[in-house]
Amino acid sequence: MNLLTVNSLTVRTEHQSGPINILDNLNFKIESGKSLGVVGESGCGKSMMAFTIMGLLPENMTASGEVLFGSNLLRLPEKELCQIRGNRMGMVFQEPMTALNPVLPIGFQVAESLRLHKSLSLHEAQNQASKVLDRVGLPAKNFSRSLYPHQLSGGQRQRVVIAIAIVCEPELIIADEPTTALDVTIQEQILALISELVLERNMALILITHDLGVVAENTDQMLVMYAGRIVERGPTQKVFRHLAHPYTRGLFASIPNSEKSLNEPSQQLEYSRKKRLSTIPGRVPEFWERSKGCSFADRCSRTQGKCSSLVPDEIQFDTGHYTTCFFPYEQNE
Ligand SMILES: Nc1ncnc2c1ncn2[C@@H]1O[C@H](COP(=O)(O)OP(=O)(O)OP(=O)(O)O)[C@@H](O)[C@H]1O
Ligand SMILES: [Mg+2]
Repeated sequence: MNLLTVNSLTVRTEHQSGPINILDNLNFKIESGKSLGVVGESGCGKSMMAFTIMGLLPENMTASGEVLFGSNLLRLPEKELCQIRGNRMGMVFQEPMTALNPVLPIGFQVAESLRLHKSLSLHEAQNQASKVLDRVGLPAKNFSRSLYPHQLSGGQRQRVVIAIAIVCEPELIIADEPTTALDVTIQEQILALISELVLERNMALILITHDLGVVAENTDQMLVMYAGRIVERGPTQKVFRHLAHPYTRGLFASIPNSEKSLNEPSQQLEYSRKKRLSTIPGRVPEFWERSKGCSFADRCSRTQGKCSSLVPDEIQFDTGHYTTCFFPYEQNE
């Protein structure tokens, strides 16, 4: 069953040069208990999409279309949105130090959400919060509930942020780059924890990341975003098998060792020394610089006449696998 359906979602703001679309006609769905990865270069609108779903758009922006989560969240008054945010939908932010309140103990911060949404007494909320902190790997015997965020490491702080996001047992959790501020080993632990919790509680997950490897390992479905649009989407395995959009291929080619599977670290180092990493030429255009046609046209090796003047419609290759390109790669190309 679809838990969240996004239809024709467009987010618009005023710029000196006139109105511009920060997000442009996004369409996708996520089912209960499933995970959706969102990838794309910096500035392509991933966080803006998350903020729009959570009803946290900056004041200078307006959203149109539908974000159906029971009802259309774009039409809900703020009071009703507050009952959904943090309760039926949880969010894990990139930087735990800014997501946590530095002057409140961790136990209090996790319990606060329960007090607000579930009307529990202070004692009940603290008990429940303590159990969730245990579950995310911060057992009470080692981590007093009266510790402050600065007394924890980055990875431990991110565990507190995850505890806050899940404490009310949301149906959907949005994790926006939950591990970029952490070192590689801690990243893996945090991603494993998120995956376990999602499975255990049958939550749906939107996982936003720069890292295609993270999407490959942790998600059922994926979206590839470029300059405020979705350029490819579908079941993660199908998208990786095909890589239909030239932008998706470019992202894939810029992963170290994506062309060869090398198991030994020494082989990998040797290979990295010999081969320069491919990069996608150029940069993501600013919103006011976008051409009339496909926004990737200036950087794409397959651009032909109409790419610069017309926006391609989304086409379906295979069940559930779509791309927005006039000249996508064929399966075996
Ligand atoms: N408050 C704002 N007012 C106007 N434009 C904004 C505002 N916040 C973001 N933007 C614009 O929206 C674009 C998309 O930003 P967003 O933060 O969603 O990118 P992102 O894909 O999450 O990037 P990153 O990977 O770096 O987190 C930015 O390039 C910026 O131009
Ligand atoms: Mg972001």
